[in-house]
Amino acid sequence: MNNEKRDIVKNPFRYGKPVTGEYFFKLNHLEKELDNYIKSALSVAIVGPRRFGKTSFLKNYLCEKREKGFAVIEIDAFNVVTHKDFLTQLINAIAKEKGAIKRFTDWLGEFKNIRSPLSCSANPSTGEMSISVELGNASESDTKQAILLSMDSMAKLSKKLIVSIDEFQRIGELDDGRWLEATLRSKMQEHDHVAFIFTGSRRSIIEEMFNHSSRPFYRSCKMMFFPLFGPEFTDWIVRRFSNVKINCDRLAIQYLREQVEDTPHYVQEVCFHLVSHGIKSITHESVDDVINIISSQSSYTYESLLNILTPTQIKILRMLVLEGRISYSKYVRNKYELKSASYIQSGIKSLVDKQIIEKDPGTRDISFDDPMFKIWLSKKLR
Ligand SMILES: Nc1ncnc2c1ncn2[C@@H]1O[C@H](COP(=O)(O)OP(=O)(O)OP(=O)(O)O)[C@@H](O)[C@H]1O
Ligand SMILES: [Mg+2]
Repeated sequence: MNNEKRDIVKNPFRYGKPVTGEYFFKLNHLEKELDNYIKSALSVAIVGPRRFGKTSFLKNYLCEKREKGFAVIEIDAFNVVTHKDFLTQLINAIAKEKGAIKRFTDWLGEFKNIRSPLSCSANPSTGEMSISVELGNASESDTKQAILLSMDSMAKLSKKLIVSIDEFQRIGELDDGRWLEATLRSKMQEHDHVAFIFTGSRRSIIEEMFNHSSRPFYRSCKMMFFPLFGPEFTDWIVRRFSNVKINCDRLAIQYLREQVEDTPHYVQEVCFHLVSHGIKSITHESVDDVINIISSQSSYTYESLLNILTPTQIKILRMLVLEGRISYSKYVRNKYELKSASYIQSGIKSLVDKQIIEKDPGTRDISFDDPMFKIWLSKKLR
């Protein structure tokens, strides 16, 4: 790696959290498609693999919609494991919307039968009003009641309203007899001027929620798949390098995208490190060097992951890395010392449950959740 004196440049790449502004590559097609549904207040579920840019897209899309006069309720369900978590997110999202505080007195009135989980206070430095939630002792039935009231209150915020729930699969994973899933569905029907956007990455769980006739959300939404970024993403990256006077071979970026299975997170992470290492000309070799550094830096995490797996599960991963697919043939099973097809099937199920691999619900193809883990594993097995 180049040790010459480095100019201090503002790194044009970012990773580790959703990107906005100049760090965000716009997805015009997806935006237009989504607009068609939102304009008609139709609800949409967007699913895509992990680290592909769903949250970044959603945040940028919602920001533009706010500028166009929509009220937006943004919920991140990643940490929602109880109804109180959901209610807290919901109330905070409502409180952020213009006009919500003005309506607060009405809202409190609606809450009169619930032992006051809400309070309103002024920030002493800015004088701005804010709503705070004290849910510590609220009973389960009060919490449920408060969710219902808050959703009705939310629906009155505006005639142009979008409600987005990121990591939506969490709602389907709650152990609540599907109460929240059914409640959301019935509120969607009741308040039909509201457009809901659900995003998430656990495709199998989300598809089950929307495509299974026993589930409340059965066929309630238009399903969209989060797209791979087109060739323009490569041009965008080359331009970002050239803005900081780094020469970049377009083919090197195509190569990088192939190596990391077109995962925007890793594309940005590798590019970030290429810049921070002071490399002045980006080639296949420099891309390989940085991928090696990144995968080695994660060794501890990946070793810990291997430690929790059974020998059968490791053998299955070995087959997946070295053969590029799962095979049940006797010849391949013998090669990897896997006793029977049913062993492989139950091993795959546990690896899917542990979110190490994903099974495409349509094609049944198996792939790694984390392409960097696959790269690390293939080096380890070499
Ligand atoms: N539109 C984009 N333009 C440029 N980089 C992007 C874009 N979208 C995502 N990225 C890169 O990918 C990273 C992950 O993005 P984001 O968190 O939005 O993905 P996600 O699909 O929501 O991930 P997760 O499945 O972990 O929730 C970002 O930090 C950024 O480096
Ligand atoms: Mg996300």
